[in-house]
Amino acid sequence: MITIKHVSKDYHAGDTVVHALRGVSLDIGRGEFFSIAGPSGSGKTTLLNLIGCIDDPDSGDIIIDGESVSGKTKKDLALFRREKLGFVFQSFNLIPVLTAYENVAFALSLLNIDSRKIKERTSALLKEVGLEGMENRLPSKLSGGQQQRVAIARALIKKPSIVLADEPTANLDSKTGAEVLKLMEDMNKKHGTIFIFSTHDPMVMEFAYRLILLHDGEITSDERRK
Ligand SMILES: Nc1ncnc2c1ncn2[C@@H]1O[C@H](COP(=O)(O)OP(=O)(O)O)[C@@H](O)[C@H]1O
Ligand SMILES: [Mg+2]
Repeated sequence: MITIKHVSKDYHAGDTVVHALRGVSLDIGRGEFFSIAGPSGSGKTTLLNLIGCIDDPDSGDIIIDGESVSGKTKKDLALFRREKLGFVFQSFNLIPVLTAYENVAFALSLLNIDSRKIKERTSALLKEVGLEGMENRLPSKLSGGQQQRVAIARALIKKPSIVLADEPTANLDSKTGAEVLKLMEDMNKKHGTIFIFSTHDPMVMEFAYRLILLHDGEITSDERRK
């Protein structure tokens, strides 16, 4: 489903070069519940941004669903991203002036979809993530864990094949973090969506069915656990 071939990425800051990724190769199959783990600065966000078509590798290639990302124009990449990928962020990134319902429905409202269908799908998904009855609350009236549930529903609303979550529990206490991971696992099982989440937290790593460790831009281990 996702093939990463000898991917390297450098950042240049003045005269210094940071080798954020050094020849990373990886295959991720359909329906995996996958964690990219490693200490701060090991290259987790860089790798997620490359898989998410937010940034380009300096060398190597990324193939998603049979399509090479490197040959695509910016416009095609944006389309590709909107069709295939969902994103969850460390700081939730909900739109503060929109309700939970509106945050989730927003991406569908931009498409030419019957409003009744939008309502059905959004309400059903909010129920699935455990937010029934909270549809009309603004993000500021939700706890961190509830906001991340909204973000997970938002990531899933267009039925992407892959959800990318960069340190999704970093701003949550450990109990709430575990609940959010459990929700992602449930959604992975139920919908077959690939989840790729990054973390530096050993407790969060425990949830992964497959775990790679990054160290200074290289994969140092790749382990299937469940
Ligand atoms: N925009 C950037 N400019 C310069 N260096 C960067 C930039 N983004 C990341 N880096 C560096 O690249 C390395 C990998 O960063 P990152 O992928 O963010 O790691 P992680 O997410 O594991 O903390 C780090 O050394 C970081 O300082
Ligand atoms: Mg990071």
